[in-house]
Amino acid sequence: MSGVSPKGRLAPVMPSESYRALTPNDLNAVVAFLRAKRPIKSDAPPQERHGALEPRRAIPGAETPLSDAGLADPLQQGLYVASLARCMSCHSGETDGAPDPERRLGQGGRIFRTPAGATVASNITSHPTKGVGAWTDQELKRAIIEGTGRDGKPLAPTMANLSKAHFSKMAERDIEALIAWLRTTPPKE
Ligand code: HEC
Repeated sequence: MSGVSPKGRLAPVMPSESYRALTPNDLNAVVAFLRAKRPIKSDAPPQERHGALEPRRAIPGAETPLSDAGLADPLQQGLYVASLARCMSCHSGETDGAPDPERRLGQGGRIFRTPAGATVASNITSHPTKGVGAWTDQELKRAIIEGTGRDGKPLAPTMANLSKAHFSKMAERDIEALIAWLRTTPPKE
């Protein structure tokens, strides 16, 4: 959550900023799940740390733990899902090489290079033409949980693999809340 271990600040590859919103109950459940696992000896080399690392920014409103009571509000629930699913870590525009969810939330533009080729993260703000403001709920749901674009063609694996492996398992209430929240993101070009 804070991105700090007993040995110091964790590298940004551990995206703690996305988990600051975890409710105390959900955080305790994750810890209990981890503790229930059988110990396995690892041959991983010890970590090397080079100086201080800057913590990354969370989505505005998701910087501190949310509460179970707060999540009764569908828009809070949608923000929670977006934070934990890390939608805006990929889909926000970047400032100085890091996602900028404060000023460029959902604006897209980040480039992902994979063996399958380069893909640009889409603008998923409520902008009617540059973003997904004109998409129907059904089209958004299909993109998120199936990895299918508005034109019915598969999205690039950067998105589609997550859709299939993870987002397809979201509860109906979570998807609906996520879509409702996405529609509240300020339009960006
Ligand atoms: C690992 C980075 C990553 C994450 C995490 C991610 N996406 Fe994506 N997403 C992408 C990329 C890259 C594309 C563009 C794919 C393409 O153009 O084929 C995309 C495409 C989309 C599209 C289609 C938009 C369009 O104009 O075609 C939607 C909608 C979308 N993502 C929503 C989400 C939501 C909601 C989440 C969180 C539940 C999410 N994404 C998480 C990288 C990501």
